[in-house]
Amino acid sequence: MSGDRIKKGFDLTGKVAIVTGASRGIGESIARGLAEFGAKVVITSRSQESIDAIAENFYKDGFDVHPVACHVGDESNLHQLVENAIQKYGGIDILINNAATNPVYSPIEEMSGELFDKMMNINVKAAFTLSNLCLKSMQIRSGGSIVHISSVEGFKPSAGLSLYSVNKAALIMLAKAQAKEWGRYNVRSNVICPGLVKTKFSSALWKNQKVLDHWNENIPLNRMANPDEMAGLAVFLASGASSYCTGTTFTADGGYLIS
Ligand SMILES: NC(=O)c1ccc[n+]([C@@H]2O[C@H](COP(=O)([O-])OP(=O)(O)OC[C@H]3O[C@@H](n4cnc5c(N)ncnc54)[C@H](OP(=O)(O)O)[C@@H]3O)[C@@H](O)[C@H]2O)c1
Repeated sequence: MSGDRIKKGFDLTGKVAIVTGASRGIGESIARGLAEFGAKVVITSRSQESIDAIAENFYKDGFDVHPVACHVGDESNLHQLVENAIQKYGGIDILINNAATNPVYSPIEEMSGELFDKMMNINVKAAFTLSNLCLKSMQIRSGGSIVHISSVEGFKPSAGLSLYSVNKAALIMLAKAQAKEWGRYNVRSNVICPGLVKTKFSSALWKNQKVLDHWNENIPLNRMANPDEMAGLAVFLASGASSYCTGTTFTADGGYLIS
């Protein structure tokens, strides 16, 4: 019997992944993690220039990546992304729905219906549509893994982040629904809920020392995360190492939700 039976489960050699929002932050770290474990990775962001720059870094490390501009709020971009990935690599095994937006911090009653629609479109509908578009290829390849990047906000809303919290809770249920209906195709769907991670996205929180101190007091590990601390979990969920996990939510929050 092989001495690395369990280790092999993490190997992503020959697998093809799409990571949305991979030009920085959590998405970039996850894309790097998948590539380090052998996957070919289609990396995307709205800006071709930004994603090309990240691709250059990846090429230098010997990784096989394909940079594609894609605004996840534009359905035609999602269709083009999937067609492009299949044309380049022949199919899709792994989808990481990571890109998201949170344009405002404000009381819920001051948020408009227009904002609700915009956020729902980018933060939830894009993950729904992209998953549906990838399903066919995953079926052809006898399975796949979808990972949605939600947030602790999907469980515990912070004042001022209400619509974002609603969106992130919806992703958790989207994964459960996909897991229920797509288990028969060996397509798994799971969720990662990061706590506070030091990225551009969350800079309004961690750049304000008073706000950061408040968060740290409520995090048992007493600090925010760095983006690489989300990547190992994503590799696990993308790989055969998690072959019996589906419809589940994994937090990586320094213990925030228990405090
Ligand atoms: N940071 C945190 O504390 C934290 C906590 C919990 C959950 N999360 C979640 O983690 C995920 C990643 O966030 P992050 O903190 O890593 O953010 P980030 O550093 O700001 O990176 C966001 C990425 O998404 C891309 N992007 C933004 N809007 C897009 C759109 N409409 N279409 C396609 N790509 C888009 C950005 O590139 P372009 O601007 O070039 O498009 C960038 O690559 C999000 O789902 C967020 O909700 C973050």
